[in-house]
Amino acid sequence: MSEEKHGKMFSDEQVKPFLPSAEFKSKALARDDKLYKKAEKDRLSFWADMAAELDWSQKWEAVLDDSNPPFYRWFTGGKLNISANCLDRHVNNGLGDKRALIFEGEKGDTAQLTYSELLEEVCKFSSVLRKLEVDKGDAVTIWMPMVPEAIVAMLACTRIGAVHSVVFGGFSPEALKDRILDSKSKVLVTADGAFRRGKTIPMRVAAEEILPLCESIQSVVTVERTGTGYEPMDGRDYRWEDLMADADSCFDPEPMDAEDPLFILYSSGTTGKPKGILHTGGGYLVGVNTTFKYVFDHQPDDVFWCTADIGWITGHSYIIYGPLSNGATTMIYEGVPDYPERDRFWELVEKYGVTVFYTAPTAIRSFMRWGNHFPAKRDLSSLRLLGSVGEPINPEAWIWYHEHIGRGKCPIVDTWWQTETGMIMITPLPGVTPLKPGSATKPFPGVEMDIVDEKGNSTGPGQRGFLVAKSPWPAMLRTLHGDPDRYLYTYWKQYEGIYFTGDGAWRDADGNFWIMGRVDDVLNVSGHRIGTMEVESALVDHPSVAEAAVIGKVHEIKGHAITAFVTLKEGIEGSDELAAELKKHVGKAIGAIARPEEVFFTYELPKTRSGKIMRRLLRDIAEQRDLGDVTTLMDPQVVAAIKDGYTEKQ
Ligand code: PRX
Repeated sequence: MSEEKHGKMFSDEQVKPFLPSAEFKSKALARDDKLYKKAEKDRLSFWADMAAELDWSQKWEAVLDDSNPPFYRWFTGGKLNISANCLDRHVNNGLGDKRALIFEGEKGDTAQLTYSELLEEVCKFSSVLRKLEVDKGDAVTIWMPMVPEAIVAMLACTRIGAVHSVVFGGFSPEALKDRILDSKSKVLVTADGAFRRGKTIPMRVAAEEILPLCESIQSVVTVERTGTGYEPMDGRDYRWEDLMADADSCFDPEPMDAEDPLFILYSSGTTGKPKGILHTGGGYLVGVNTTFKYVFDHQPDDVFWCTADIGWITGHSYIIYGPLSNGATTMIYEGVPDYPERDRFWELVEKYGVTVFYTAPTAIRSFMRWGNHFPAKRDLSSLRLLGSVGEPINPEAWIWYHEHIGRGKCPIVDTWWQTETGMIMITPLPGVTPLKPGSATKPFPGVEMDIVDEKGNSTGPGQRGFLVAKSPWPAMLRTLHGDPDRYLYTYWKQYEGIYFTGDGAWRDADGNFWIMGRVDDVLNVSGHRIGTMEVESALVDHPSVAEAAVIGKVHEIKGHAITAFVTLKEGIEGSDELAAELKKHVGKAIGAIARPEEVFFTYELPKTRSGKIMRRLLRDIAEQRDLGDVTTLMDPQVVAAIKDGYTEKQ
C-alpha cells in the first residue's frame, strides 16, 4: 500500500469524535460501558452469558478448552442446532408471522418469507438433502446467485448437520471445481443462471465443463432462475422445484456438538491455493448472535440490509446467521447498485424502510463519485444506523456516508474482522463509542486485540505495528480444512500463542485502532481478498507466459487494482491483444473479480540475488514513487527499465 497516501488518509489530526444523539442513545441496547466492564472482569463468563441466550439441547461443560492451543474448542460438550436457533426458536416464541427474509430481484420481483415460511422451506430442503443421502458431516457446495433458495439451502445443511461450502456466484467454474474437490462435496446446489445488469449469466450449463472432474458429486440440484437451458443427466440432476414439490415439510433438527463443523469458506492466502477456513457451530453462533445484537443495536422492528454476497463471510455472518439468530428481518438484493439506475440502493431503502444499512467502503466511494443527487432524491429517513466493512474507510468517504446517507443523524459502525474471525472483532458500539472517521475504534467486549512490533511487544500510541488477537474468541476458525499445518504457520507462528491477522495497524492516544491494510501478499480489491499468488499462478498457466508478478496499485474506488507484470516465453511479443487475452484467462481461472486491471510486459522481473521477486519495487513503480535501495537486486538495471517503460505507458 502507499504509505504516504494511507498515512495521510488515516491520520487522526483533524478528526473530532462524533457522538451518538441523545435519541439514539436513549433507545440503544448498550448505552454505557457495562458490557466492556463485564467482559474485562471475566471474559469467559461474559461469553457464557452470551451463549445462554441461545437454545442448547445440552448445556456445555466448559466454555473454553485451551488444552491444545491453537486448536481451541468452545462450549465443549454442548449441543445445539443452528437452524433451530435461527428459526424454530423464534416461531416457538410467537414470532412465526414476523418477516425473516425480504428478497428483491434485479428486475424488481420480490419475495418475503416469514419465520414460519422460512422454517417450512428449510425443513423441506432438509428432507430433500436426506433423500439425496446427505448425512451429518457430509459437505454440500452451494454456487448460486443471491436468491432466497441459497439461504434455504444453507440453513437446511445446518439442520441436518451437513457442512456447507458456499462458493461466490461470481467465481468461475474452474474455481468452483477446486473448491468442490477440496471439500469433497456430495451435492452441488446451483441455479440455471443469474441476472446481472439486465443480462443472463448461465451457471448450471457453465458448471457442465467441470462436473465430470468432480467425482465426489453425486447429485446436482438446480434452481430455475433465468430459464437458461442445460442438459440434465439422469440419476444426477434434479430440479429444485420438483424436489421441493413433494418434500416433507417437517424435519427435526439434528442435535449437533458445539464443535461439529458448520461450514467451510474458501479465502485467499499467500499461496496459489485458497484456504478452506473451517468454522464450527456453537462458538460461531454465539459470536455472530452477540455481535449482531450489540453492534447493529438490534431493535424488533428493524429492517436490516447487509449488501454483501452470501458467498463471503459477511454474507454468512450478517445476512444470515447473526440476523436470523436474533429474530431480525434481513434483506437481500440480487443485483448491483447502479442498475438500472445509480439510485437503486436508495430506492430499496425507501421501498422497504431499511433501518440499518451495512456496506463496503468501495461502494461508498462509488456512490460519492456518482453524485449526491442520487441519494438526495430518495426518502432515506428510515435509516438509523450505518455500517462499513471489508477495508479501511477513508475519512472523506466516512463523512460523505454520514452526511448524505445518514443525514447527519446515524452513527456509523466501522467493523474490522475477517473470514477467519467469523465475527466482528473491532467496532464501535453505536450508543456508546465516540466515533472517529477512519477508525474501527475498539475491540468488541470479550475480544482482546493488540498491535505489536516485530518482536511481539505492544506498540505505543502512534506507532505502526501488526494487528494480533491475544486470546481466542468463540467464532474463531478452528483450522484450515485438510491442512492443520498451514493453519499453524499462517496464523500462530509469528508470535507464540497469539493470532496474527496479517494486517498492519496503529493506535491513537485514546486507544482507538486504525487499520492500515494487509502486510502480506494478499490484496483487497473492492473489499474482496485476492491472493497475488493465485493470480500469478493463473497467469503462468497461460502458454505464452514465463513469469508473473502481481501487485495491488492503490485505486480511488476499489482500494487496490490488480496490476500484473509479466515476462513472456522466448519468441513471444507482448501486445494489447495478448494483454486482453491474459486478463480473460485469469477471469476464467478465478472469476471476474481477479481479472487484472493492467497487464504490463517486461523482459525481466526485479529479483534479489536469491531469486525472490521484489514486488515492493513494482508497487513503487506502479504508484510512481521513488525507488529506494536497489543494490540488493540481481540486476539493478531491470527495475530502471521497467520504470521507464511503465511510466511511458501511463
Ligand atoms: O485487511 C482487513 C480487511 O479485510 C481483511 C479480511 O478480509 P475477508 O476475510 O475477506 O473479510 C472481509 C469482511 C469481514 C482484513 O484482514 N478489513 C475488513 N474489515 C475492515 C478491514 N480493514 C479495515 N477496516 C475494516 N473495517
